[in-house]
Amino acid sequence: METARADQHSLNKREFEDLCSMVYDYTGIVLVESKREMVYRRIMRRVRAIGIGSFSEYFRLISDPNSEELPNFLNAITTNLTSFFRENHHFDYLKTDFLPEHERDYGQDKRLRIWSTASSTGEEPYSLAITLREYFGSRINNWDCKILATDLDTTVLETAINGIYKFERVENIPEKIQKKWFLRGSGDNSEYVKVSQDLQDLITFKQLNLMHDWPMRGPFDVIMCRNVLIYFDKPTQAKLLGKFMGLLRVNGVLMLGHSESIAKGYDELECRGKTIYVRRR
Ligand SMILES: C[S@@+](CC[C@H](N)C(=O)[O-])C[C@H]1O[C@@H](n2cnc3c(N)ncnc32)[C@H](O)[C@@H]1O
Repeated sequence: METARADQHSLNKREFEDLCSMVYDYTGIVLVESKREMVYRRIMRRVRAIGIGSFSEYFRLISDPNSEELPNFLNAITTNLTSFFRENHHFDYLKTDFLPEHERDYGQDKRLRIWSTASSTGEEPYSLAITLREYFGSRINNWDCKILATDLDTTVLETAINGIYKFERVENIPEKIQKKWFLRGSGDNSEYVKVSQDLQDLITFKQLNLMHDWPMRGPFDVIMCRNVLIYFDKPTQAKLLGKFMGLLRVNGVLMLGHSESIAKGYDELECRGKTIYVRRR
C-alpha cells in the first residue's frame, strides 16, 4: 500500500522539469536533477499538509498565479540555512576596518544604511545589529543607523521578526555578547532566547523577491548578499551584481557568501579580503 502511494506521488522527469521552470520563473533558483528527491520530499510535505490527492493536483493548484498555496510552495523550495556570525570574518572586517573608516569619513552625516538581501531567519541582520551596537556603544544614539533585512520566504521572515531562537543557536556566541543581547526564557521557555529590543529597533524586515523590482533607492553603505547567488545561474548573478552596484555608494562594501565570488570584469569592485568587495567608482 505504502509503495503504491509513494509511486503515485513520485516526481517523474517531466513533472520535475515543469516544476523547475516554475521555480526558476518565480525565484531565479536553478534546481538540478540531483535535487529531484529533495524537492519531492519537500513538496510531499505540502501535499500532505493540505490533504491533496496527488502531485498532479498539487501542480495544477500552484500553476494558478493567484493560488494561496503558491507562497507556501516557494517557501518549501528555498534553503534557509544560516547562523549567528556565520562567516565571522565579515563582521570582524566591519568592526575593525569598515566602521572606523565610515565614522571618520561620514561622521558629519552620521548615517549608515545596511542591506541584508537574503536574511533568512534573521541571524545575519541580528549579527549586524550586534556588531553596530558593540562598535558604536552609546555613540549610536547620535547616528541614524538602519538595517534593511529582506527575504523571499515569508515563513523565515516571521521567525526573524519574532527574534526567538533555540538556545543552541546562540551557545557558540561569546558569553559576554550572549548575555548582553539575548534574553533567556524561563520555565517552559528556558530552552529559548529572545533578541534584545535594542537590536530589533535597528532592523526593518520586509519580504522581497530579488527577481522583482526593488523599491529601495539607496545608497547603501554595506550590502550583504551571502549564500543566495549560488542558487542562481550566471546571467541572473550578473544582473543582480549590476543592480547591487547601482545601490551601493562609492567606497561601500559588498559581501558575498563563502562559495560566491565576483568574476573578473567588475573593475569597479576591489577585493578587500575573502568575499569582501569595495566599490571603487
Ligand atoms: C542559505 S540562505 C542564506 C542566509 C544568509 N544570507 C546566510 O548567509 O546565512 C538563502 C536565503 O535566500 C533566500 N532566497 C532564495 N531565493 C530568493 C530570491 N529570489 N529573493 C530573495 N531571497 C531569496 C531564501 O529564502 C533563503 O532564506
